[in-house]
Amino acid sequence: MKTSFLLLLCVMFVCPLRSVALPAGDSTNPKKEEAAALQACAKMVLSGFRKIADTGDQRFEGKVTEATALCRGGQKTLQFRLTPWVDWSQYWGTGDMSSLPSGFISTKGPAFRGVTGALLDLEYERIELIKFNLFDNNGTYQTYVAGRAGVGGPALKVWPEMRLPKDSPSYLAVGGDGAQVCTGDLIRTRTLTGICNDLRNPLMGSSGTPFARNVEFDTTFPDLGQTELTKNRHGGRIGLLTPDPQVISRKLFTRAQSNPAACNSGFGLPNNSPDANCDYQKAPFFNVLAAYWIQFMTHDWFSHMEEGHNATEIIEVGCKTQLVNGVATPLTPDDVQKLGCRPNDQVDKAYVLQSSPPDQFSSGGHNYLTRAPKTFSNKNTAWWDASQLYGFDETSWRRVKRDPKDPAKMLLEPVTGMPGAAYLPVLQASDPMQPQWTGQESVAFPDNWSIGLSFYHNLFAREHNSFVDEFRRQAARMPNADSGLRNPSDPKRVIRNQDVTSDELFQVARLVVSAEIAKIHTIEWTPQLLYDEPLYKGMNANWNGLLGAGDPEVSKALSDIIVHNFGKSTNSKKESQWYSVFASGPGIFGIGSTVPHYDITNPNDVNGGVNHFGSPFNFPEEFVTVYRLHPLVPDLIEYRDVSKDPNQIVQKVAVIDTFEGKATDAMRSRGLANWGLSLGRQRLGLLALHNHPQFMQNIHLPRLDTPTQQIDIAALDLIRDREHGVPRFNEFRRQYGLRQLTSYDDFMDKSLPADSVARKPQEEMVAQLREVYGTHVCDSSKVITDAQVNEDSSPINDCLGHPNGSVVDNIEDVDTVVGWLAESTRPHGFAISETQFVVFILNASRRLYSDRFFTSSFRSEFYTQLGVDWVNHNGPGPEMIEAGMPNGHKQPVSPLKRVLLRNIPELTPELQHVTNAFDPWGRARGEYYTLDWKPRPDAIADPAFKQ
Ligand code: HEM
Repeated sequence: MKTSFLLLLCVMFVCPLRSVALPAGDSTNPKKEEAAALQACAKMVLSGFRKIADTGDQRFEGKVTEATALCRGGQKTLQFRLTPWVDWSQYWGTGDMSSLPSGFISTKGPAFRGVTGALLDLEYERIELIKFNLFDNNGTYQTYVAGRAGVGGPALKVWPEMRLPKDSPSYLAVGGDGAQVCTGDLIRTRTLTGICNDLRNPLMGSSGTPFARNVEFDTTFPDLGQTELTKNRHGGRIGLLTPDPQVISRKLFTRAQSNPAACNSGFGLPNNSPDANCDYQKAPFFNVLAAYWIQFMTHDWFSHMEEGHNATEIIEVGCKTQLVNGVATPLTPDDVQKLGCRPNDQVDKAYVLQSSPPDQFSSGGHNYLTRAPKTFSNKNTAWWDASQLYGFDETSWRRVKRDPKDPAKMLLEPVTGMPGAAYLPVLQASDPMQPQWTGQESVAFPDNWSIGLSFYHNLFAREHNSFVDEFRRQAARMPNADSGLRNPSDPKRVIRNQDVTSDELFQVARLVVSAEIAKIHTIEWTPQLLYDEPLYKGMNANWNGLLGAGDPEVSKALSDIIVHNFGKSTNSKKESQWYSVFASGPGIFGIGSTVPHYDITNPNDVNGGVNHFGSPFNFPEEFVTVYRLHPLVPDLIEYRDVSKDPNQIVQKVAVIDTFEGKATDAMRSRGLANWGLSLGRQRLGLLALHNHPQFMQNIHLPRLDTPTQQIDIAALDLIRDREHGVPRFNEFRRQYGLRQLTSYDDFMDKSLPADSVARKPQEEMVAQLREVYGTHVCDSSKVITDAQVNEDSSPINDCLGHPNGSVVDNIEDVDTVVGWLAESTRPHGFAISETQFVVFILNASRRLYSDRFFTSSFRSEFYTQLGVDWVNHNGPGPEMIEAGMPNGHKQPVSPLKRVLLRNIPELTPELQHVTNAFDPWGRARGEYYTLDWKPRPDAIADPAFKQ
């Protein structure tokens, strides 16, 4: 094989750890560094490919060999190999312009090696995540481990546990006691409760099924001390209220204020005075629209709450003790006052689905639990089906109002004083509702409502109607033309445009809106959340394929190979290890939709593109943990008026003044366009410690029957994770195949120069973590994990590499949310930490791989031809191309920008300058992935740039 081809493959697939003698590079001498890098590349190639790990302790961990590091990123990458953080973030081309080598003959080669290398490190991580991190709580785990009838668990595709139960209204329709297969009306659309997405596993992903896990069952609920390892790991130091969650919130989460009076605990000043100010740490490349977008998404994916409440039992929520000289000591009234916490706060306990001790089984000499010690149900459908808009059960469906004049449409009402505009109707007493929702707009998922959710629900209701209008126009123009739609109960009948019923059109619009939302999230929100070249390419590959955009024929061929060979494979190893790699060729979206002679009555065709990797799909509890993103929300919204000067901040509106029913008046009196402009221009809050909104720490929830009717949401995030048994941060990382930390000091960014001003706050953070979580004298005889081993293959013990008997940090006790907020070392442009990201790599792909409406059922038979084109082209008509080459890419006008232009035309002049709707709209996008906070020429007067 030619060396250059080997080099490409090796750049693509991580080369193994093997010690190779390398010449010393010299970052001050470009010629020497270039020569060293090239020599390293040759050595990397000769050492061959890295094998996928057979056991968890051999996992990749995001760390490459010395040669690979030098080849892909030069000395800089080599320098940080010993930190716990992944290597690829130091590769060439993975940051802004400064990540390109200077003085090299060409920067293209190194940048290609760096970016491609990063992409493939990520793919490698994904393969191993799929292999090691799937734990289903429905009762299928034993067959996943042991297999069934000679087929390996990861290759199984159908599970008896995913049959509809006898009390399901669709039980008989799918086959009752016999083999269950969804057919006919049950497969045409996204069903209300999410059943029949997978034809042969009708129950999968439906409302009320248990959350999955991504971590070994026996590592969950560490505070119960059920195994020797968890006992050793935490030494009896952790519990539901230990360390005290409100104390953690006040000491580690509170936003510091330079002028507390101007913030007024997050309430701002009277009359929305623009003089109000609540300081917060801001992300320069991500706007408040992006914050509300992700809340809008989570309301589609999961919910632990049911109709706005948790279980009936009330629990305490802390503000009781703090560590003093390492000993938990009751807080004095003085301490309470200084901290600002509330000992009398209480909250309703989380619902529990199962809490009986799980069965155990043995396989291959190991003992396993069949499920986690407690399970919890996802009250929502797990599918990306826009269920926050369209409902997930009979009750939520009753809040979805359709237009009586055209039932294909969502009901939008005219509003006095807003000529031409229409908004969602308000909940009526006859609607299923909770007292706290009074006055809110009527939507399927009304919880934790504020102006941001009102914005997106109105926007996508309008988008739904825009699609219906376009279809009706097409039908009026060409009534006899084939709509593309088919009915599986009568598959030969051509359904002409004029034959499409209002109910059918409503459901088609739901499919289109869901797919648009998934597309916006995949290729617009995420590449801005992770603002660098590898992730731009990676996310576009998930959607369009690495080859898709350039070569549709190759893409189609690859897609067919996957469906015909790997999709039907019973070889579990092939299946789980390589499927995701092959899918990056054609992309996940639409996989299996182009097979020859596609037959809508053949389940193998309709369902052929999905892959669950042997484990039924649902979100894991660990996914919810990393989406507890409350620091994204500012306390005050910098309100602007689109009809006046967009550069002017006319008011500062407290988010709390738009909470629940107050959002309706805020929306109707000010309008979608002004809120769009305001949320689009403002930067969101960094995910960091000391950055939770003040108002959330003190929020009033009158629905609570408790002494204060108040809650600290930041503290509640910790309590809920503890209730759900999420492993603490360090074991969480080990479970996901990331390197452990050995002290709080590891949270500091080692790439900062000694004299950097950013060091001081990080040193303070380390001291605060030590104060809150404490230290202990370690005992090296206590093994604390079996997920990983030390470099020398010895078990990891309580001392984490420090001498026996020394004082070590209680790093094992750090709550996962605290840990990922404390991560100062992040890849360039990452608004989230690498720990959150690894959870995302696995689950973001799975929600596409598992959903037939994004794979083999993305066809006109389900979406209509207009629907397919609408999703592919981001709206009606041909694809529009963005002017210029943002970050070096020719790209279509982004899907959310198109949605905004279509449905809020008043924003057209402002959006002219916008490439990605989640990048603050006034920011100059500048050169290659810059994070600079600089205005575009006509936003120079915007005071936000003077802050
Ligand atoms: C005005 C803004 C917001 C308010 C008032 C709010 C309020 C709340 C409250 C009260 C809960 C606790 C429910 C419970 O466990 O009892 C919660 C949970 C949660 N919030 Fe927020 N939130 C806001 C914004 C956001 C944003 C921007 C995100 C970003 C993703 C987010 C993500 C979550 C998640 C993941 C949960 C856990 C849900 C579950 O357990 O099923 N929230 N929020």
